[in-house]
Amino acid sequence: MLRTYNCGTLNINNVSEKVILSGWVQKTRDLGGMTFVDLRDRYGITQLAFSMDVNTDLCTDARKIGREFVIQAEGVVIERTSKNKNIPTGEIEIEVSGLTILNASKTPPFTIEDETDGGDEIRMKYRYLDIRRNPIKENLMLRAKVSTETRNFLNAEGFIEVETPYLIKSTPEGARDFVVPSRMNEKQFYALPQSPQTFKQLLMVAGIDKYYQIVKCFRDEDLRADRQPEFTQIDCEMSFIEQEDVLNMFEGLTRHLLKEVKGIKLTEFPRITYDDAMALYGSDKPDIRFDMAIVEINAECKGKDFGMFDNSEAVLGINAKGCANYTRKQLDKLINFVKTPQVGATGLIYCKYKEDGTSKSSVDNFFDEDARKAWAAKAGCEDGDLLLIMSGGLDKTRKALGTLRLHLAEELGLRNPEVFAPLWVLDFPLLEWDVDTERYHAMHHPFTSPKPDDIAKLDTNPAAVRANAYDLVMNGNEIGGGSIRIHDKALQQLMFKHLGFTDKEAKEQFGFLMEAFEYGAPPHGGVAFGFDRLCAIMGGQESIRDFIAFPKNNSGRDVMIDSPSDVDEEQLNELNIKLI
Ligand code: AMO
Repeated sequence: MLRTYNCGTLNINNVSEKVILSGWVQKTRDLGGMTFVDLRDRYGITQLAFSMDVNTDLCTDARKIGREFVIQAEGVVIERTSKNKNIPTGEIEIEVSGLTILNASKTPPFTIEDETDGGDEIRMKYRYLDIRRNPIKENLMLRAKVSTETRNFLNAEGFIEVETPYLIKSTPEGARDFVVPSRMNEKQFYALPQSPQTFKQLLMVAGIDKYYQIVKCFRDEDLRADRQPEFTQIDCEMSFIEQEDVLNMFEGLTRHLLKEVKGIKLTEFPRITYDDAMALYGSDKPDIRFDMAIVEINAECKGKDFGMFDNSEAVLGINAKGCANYTRKQLDKLINFVKTPQVGATGLIYCKYKEDGTSKSSVDNFFDEDARKAWAAKAGCEDGDLLLIMSGGLDKTRKALGTLRLHLAEELGLRNPEVFAPLWVLDFPLLEWDVDTERYHAMHHPFTSPKPDDIAKLDTNPAAVRANAYDLVMNGNEIGGGSIRIHDKALQQLMFKHLGFTDKEAKEQFGFLMEAFEYGAPPHGGVAFGFDRLCAIMGGQESIRDFIAFPKNNSGRDVMIDSPSDVDEEQLNELNIKLI
């Protein structure tokens, strides 16, 4: 037997028991007469004690074992003289009588402790060592719990887990495809799914009624902290439902997960339209853990001969509560921040509402005390508050203030990762104008149904058509997105036409789906949650990388296995591929 207990279990009740433990050496401390070894495994750390007086040879051997050696120790559980209250095994240690080195280890390239000295790249190269560290291991355990609880919930609700293929053809989710050459079909390629969208819709035509899958998706797009080229979705679809049914079901799933995994009970999620989200927060994924909503102050700002305001489409402000005491230096930092490319604004105007009831702005030459009071009344500023104002084109200014809002909230500690503030964003526009291709794109995907009342506007004012589409947002992150689908061939054809597909192109790419719609497609809709993002947010972080066992770096590389990599000439020949 290689072990009778793991390293996280033994406590004062086990004193006098003879035990065998196996694990990795975290640390060795040589105190002259005694040597202590911290033995680690997935479950915890147990202290091994070796005494020169009791067994000189064994103690000498113990001094030679290096960090990360894999060892087996046999001995008796004894009560420690100096106890460590911080760990569950901290009241005992093992008086070792037998020691076997199961495997030696090179000195690891970074310290395998909660706080490591390893940079990102080295941790990724030796990810198997990184995963030995508690923070990463705990993230993976949280991920496993979230997936188990997702299955528990959806199974109980009558969903069927169905696997869909990975070797498919392009799915239009807005990114580039990863393609895979086919040896048997000369000069032809599969595409890896950006999502199982078309398949889950076909499963509805097939009568599956409630489908889910925890599934890998592949998107060749620029990477960020919350994006990986291969990531996982909780992908779901339901038949004979309306938007309300989908929202209720997946609000239920989210509540279940937060309760079971984090022990947090949430009440009903707020809902907001896309238009309101943009107006109030300058973002379609607002962080509502804090208020600081955007207020429009056009009437209060225009007509006072201040050109910048007079010539702007919109003058907007946010109230930074309690920040009137910001120093010149702090304000300059905010001004510099809004001028960074990330925000792209030309400047920032401020007004301090001081505790003594007076106010001071950066444009006092144009705006007197009364004018500044009018701003305060509109923006809800009280004594002690700081009003930050930006002006320019409406959309751009909203977005810029939205970014400043998040930046300030971060600075003010208002983005507590242990607080969870989910909400639904509804009524997204169906289409968005793409300046590069100069045509409309589906904002969600081409299978999303327009709101019935808006269909007529497809010809007259496409940008104003709203979709039956919704996002679940949590703490400023888009966790999931979905829609009610088109299930009628004629409407789907009309959509393709508006998206600039010729009939031939639509038939080539999606003929299979349109044909399926001719065989009795039920009304259906669904949603997909970004599983990695959900886990990261539940784990109190915004970067998904440490919630994925073996992630890619920002250039899409796996630096551990060194991929992507060259392939042999022979393999290329077989695939009929010539590199140029
Ligand atoms: P969507 O494209 O919005 O919808 O994707 C759903 C969710 O997946 C997550 N996500 C990502 N996570 C990590 N890395 C990425 N590169 C990445 N891209 C997306 C996000 C997002 O909200 N088929 C539709 C869903 C539907 O309509 O039912 C779809 O894929 O959290």
